[in-house]
Amino acid sequence: PRTVYVSRHGQSQYNVCQKIGGNPGLTASGERFARWLGSWVPAHIWPAKNETGRSVTDFEELDADDEALDPHTARPLFGRVFSVDDTPVIIRPARLWTSTLKRTIDTARHIPHPVLELRGGGGVWHQMLPRVYRNLDELFAGDYEGMTYKEIEANFGGESILRKRDKLGYRYPRGESYLDLIARLDPLMHELESYAEPLLIVSHQATLRILYAYLVGIPRAEAPKIEIPLHTIIKIEWDGWQSFNETRFHFD
Ligand code: G3H
Repeated sequence: PRTVYVSRHGQSQYNVCQKIGGNPGLTASGERFARWLGSWVPAHIWPAKNETGRSVTDFEELDADDEALDPHTARPLFGRVFSVDDTPVIIRPARLWTSTLKRTIDTARHIPHPVLELRGGGGVWHQMLPRVYRNLDELFAGDYEGMTYKEIEANFGGESILRKRDKLGYRYPRGESYLDLIARLDPLMHELESYAEPLLIVSHQATLRILYAYLVGIPRAEAPKIEIPLHTIIKIEWDGWQSFNETRFHFD
């Protein structure tokens, strides 16, 4: 797509006690972020306001005109064309991806979808299409899931040293490395590159480090050190090649 929004899940129970991995729920602060995201997304990712509450099935689907151009961007239109009171309306999909873990699903659960909020009178509207992907799950810490870094260091000091030496290649015992993450994110990157519609990814710090590095062109060896802050949406407008523009939206 041209525009990708990425966000970590809201603050989780494990974030506050500095444990890694697991499948914890959100804290009260994380839940506040989730509720904020529920109103931020409709206001920023698509421009719809509910006036009629009508569903898309009320409308008659017309033949899409492949040659038609978006009046605002002069790019070819994508999406499906419907008729509302005899006026053509383009329903343009936006995508929402989460991991399979509770903290990302709960973070995205207030985002309304599908958005079929048509005022009539034509125009271009967005519809959110949600998907849950295991590929977006957090880096799996294997035997050390649910431990703090201090506990790992105290009990398995040699492993901590190995990880510090090569964070990209280090694989947790019976778990994953950042190189493993790159391999499992690869199919999603292909899918992401095939769309034109905006995409919001709600995932985890390690996965988003890899995704972010890929989109903005940071070498993969540096990716495991990138900080992806909590409660921040990073908007990346990307030309699919080298040029990108980044905007961050923070929730306090
Ligand atoms: O829980 C895991 C973290 O998001 C990944 O952090 O790779 O810096 O240990 P780390």
